[in-house]
Amino acid sequence: MTAAASWPRVEGLAYGGDYNPEQWPRETWDEDVRLMREAGVNLVSVGIFSWAMLEPKEGLYDFAWMDELLDLLHANGIAADLGTPSVSPPAWFFHQYPEARVTDKNGTVMGFGSRGMASHAAPEYREAIARMAGELAQRYGSHPAVVMWHVHNEYGVPVAEDFGPRAVASWRRWLQSRYSTLEGLNAAWGTAFWGQRYDDWEHVVAPAATPTIANPAMKLDWARFTDDQLRECFVIERDAIRAHASQPITTNFMAHQSWNTDLWKWAELVDVVSDDHYLWSPDPDAHVGLALSADLTRSVAGGKPWILMEHSTSAVNWQGRNIAKRPGEMRRNALSHFGRGADAIMFFQWRASRSGAEKFHSAMLPHAGTGSRLWREVVELGGHVEALAPAQGSVVEAEVAVLYDWESLWAQDLEWRPSDDVQFRERMRTFYERLWRDDVTVDFAHPGQDLSRYKLVVAPASYLLTASSAANLTRYVEAGGTLLVNFFSAIVNENDAVHEGGFVAPLRDALGLTVEEFLPLREGDAAAVRWTRGGEQVLASDVWQDHIALAGAEVVAENVTGPGAGLPAITRNEHGKGVGWYVGTRLDVDALKTVFDAVYADAGIEASGNPETLEVVTRRGAAEDFVVAVNHGADAARLSVAGTDLLTGAGTDGEFEVPGGGVAVIRTAHVSGGEEV
Ligand code: GLA
Repeated sequence: MTAAASWPRVEGLAYGGDYNPEQWPRETWDEDVRLMREAGVNLVSVGIFSWAMLEPKEGLYDFAWMDELLDLLHANGIAADLGTPSVSPPAWFFHQYPEARVTDKNGTVMGFGSRGMASHAAPEYREAIARMAGELAQRYGSHPAVVMWHVHNEYGVPVAEDFGPRAVASWRRWLQSRYSTLEGLNAAWGTAFWGQRYDDWEHVVAPAATPTIANPAMKLDWARFTDDQLRECFVIERDAIRAHASQPITTNFMAHQSWNTDLWKWAELVDVVSDDHYLWSPDPDAHVGLALSADLTRSVAGGKPWILMEHSTSAVNWQGRNIAKRPGEMRRNALSHFGRGADAIMFFQWRASRSGAEKFHSAMLPHAGTGSRLWREVVELGGHVEALAPAQGSVVEAEVAVLYDWESLWAQDLEWRPSDDVQFRERMRTFYERLWRDDVTVDFAHPGQDLSRYKLVVAPASYLLTASSAANLTRYVEAGGTLLVNFFSAIVNENDAVHEGGFVAPLRDALGLTVEEFLPLREGDAAAVRWTRGGEQVLASDVWQDHIALAGAEVVAENVTGPGAGLPAITRNEHGKGVGWYVGTRLDVDALKTVFDAVYADAGIEASGNPETLEVVTRRGAAEDFVVAVNHGADAARLSVAGTDLLTGAGTDGEFEVPGGGVAVIRTAHVSGGEEV
């Protein structure tokens, strides 16, 4: 087969959602496509949960309904993103192959009647998914409706780990290929501790239920292994499809919402990156988490346009309290994803299900039907998406990189850390939110990658930092970069072993310090730091202090209270042509403002000065820019920009007013380095 396309063949930006017509009588399909056209839908994902319908008995296929569906879609100008149903094998499969079920860490075998119950290590499962993907690709590889393949659904959710005998046998093989010898494994895992030494591969266990915590290096490898197993299954299906079809192949990620998959590795395997995102209701500023997820998705996509495969029109059904979106909120969410690089706006799902686990989940076509506010907003958004076509393919450029490494997240999430209050996700979100409020657009980056194009690199949570990544960061500073490192970073190597030379030692040159001892605070205790650079300020802090051992860094703030009172809290170190900043205590978004303003000055970055609730991102086209403004505040906000709003056609010659809760996409002259090009 010829090389894969990298974008689905759809006119303009894609708009649509998951479509599960098998839940409805045939006559409803006609109404569906009519309403899809009314809403401007041009792409739907089908077949994701259809295995039991496509292969009702082993080896007995029924493709007639799928033929009819794809023909109907095509006749109506709606393209299909054809799913492979591997996330939900039928009842007969588990009856026939009970060994292919997942076993949890306590030895309980997961039963049928849900989804995601198959063991990714089971040969029967692997054989069955290859066969099904191949059958589908053979039949539909040339169907004119099919513009993309959607393999599986959200790998790693709901279950990633499997502790069954098949998986443990694969685990041992995986370790043998990683370490070659038992000496290598014993050294990497530090098995001299608690007498865990192995002298036979068959004795190596999986980190299932243990009396107290299991070996952390073993658990870190287990996370890597689990992710590898999922990727192997993706590749099996991808290759089975590729043998017969040339449309782009994707699988839907969940950046920063599911943590079992190292998306730096996954992104290399897909033709086009797609992502699902759902607002987290307990968070009143969940749109900041949305922006983080979108920037992370664009970053793993290498800056290329990506597909928002799923988000919700209103409430989801799986959180404790499922909060409905307020009027205008869906549009703000969709436009924020677009601003951060999404060229496809899709939802779960097209028509709300009457039965089953997700009947209380919102949809494009709600239970209330077309007479509803939600439907009117869905139709309006379809019009907006159509109007965005001139911006298709434009890209987001960032001057700042935030380091994000799933291996570090996995390691930091293990048990028995110095403080339960220090969390990867919280630090990532807080640092990101500071940059978001300042309208400083960021990419996420792996600490080992080339960072030279960024003016500033921020490391909110780099607990696991390999010696080579630390050397990369040090070279970045030497060459003139500005680096900002938060506490509890550069602590361990790839085996969760403390770095030789102690905490932060691999960044000693870049930061001009190491850390002698951690000084975490008791739960709920508050502390403060006195900032002295360019004027004195007292900033609130909590959770953590360090006993910093200075090795050349200048102290810009010291702890006023807490166990580290009188010790340095925040430092700045000139190294080579650049600067390394270190924050040795926990600061919230407001307190970080003081630090970031000083860091921006070192890096030559300007915060926008817009109201903090006005989100502004620029997409850069070949000949012009598109300034995307999303107003999360209740009041109108002014934006300095000249151009035309793609959504309304309104023109502006310098000042544009974005209404409270409103959005705008201003097409403007392409500006580079302050000069028009
Ligand atoms: C995930 C799944 C969908 C659906 C939604 C509900 O994203 O991919 O099938 O279950 O959640 O929010």
